[in-house]
Amino acid sequence: MTEDLGPTLLTARLRLRVPNETDTVFAQSMYSVPQVVRYIGSGEPERSRQQAAARIERYRERFGSLTGVWLVEDRANRTPLGFVLLKPIPFSSGVEAEQEDIEIGWHLHPDAWGNSFAAEAAGALVTHAESQGLRRLVAVTHPDNGASKAVALKLDMTARGLTPRYYNTTCELFTLDL
Ligand SMILES: CC(C)(COP(=O)(O)OP(=O)(O)OC[C@H]1O[C@@H](n2cnc3c(N)ncnc32)[C@H](O)[C@@H]1OP(=O)(O)O)[C@@H](O)C(=O)NCCC(=O)NCCS
Repeated sequence: MTEDLGPTLLTARLRLRVPNETDTVFAQSMYSVPQVVRYIGSGEPERSRQQAAARIERYRERFGSLTGVWLVEDRANRTPLGFVLLKPIPFSSGVEAEQEDIEIGWHLHPDAWGNSFAAEAAGALVTHAESQGLRRLVAVTHPDNGASKAVALKLDMTARGLTPRYYNTTCELFTLDL
């Protein structure tokens, strides 16, 4: 398994690295928690090892020069904390766009919540995106996801209100010009 799919990124407390199959148990422990998946994807907990392995595989396939889904770990002791992402965001059906929008996102294990890790890790992705010449990032949250909206605002993203533009649903939109 190659580990040169994407860069390792460092912050004061965190290491962001390409996930691999050894992270399957962590992914299972995280995405099986109802509070984690409540506002993401189908909203259904993924309880099986197979689902977690498929998720890690998908995350690895996301890597390009800009994009990826990084595993976030504690720099000091390598404890896995969650995942952060940069990827083209899917437009809702019928939306005509001249170019893709790049989404920034964050998912943490509940044991890691409340430490400002999400904003710190996502900050490293903002720096990475800038270094790759990207001009604009978007984030979307479920309208009721107060913690995630707070993370976007901590990143100095601008709240743009509700939009039907992405994921075939109505989301709260945040943008950041780089
Ligand atoms: C979103 C998520 C990453 C935030 O994690 P976190 O550890 O709370 O994040 P941070 O500590 O960096 O910051 C969260 C901020 O939101 C605040 N907050 C927490 N819950 C909140 C709520 N319900 N309403 C408003 N603000 C809230 C916190 O006080 C904190 O602000 P502060 O640092 O000024 O005190 C975490 O809740 C998570 O992983 N949720 C499940 C996955 C998910 O929904 N991801 C986002 C999809 S869009």
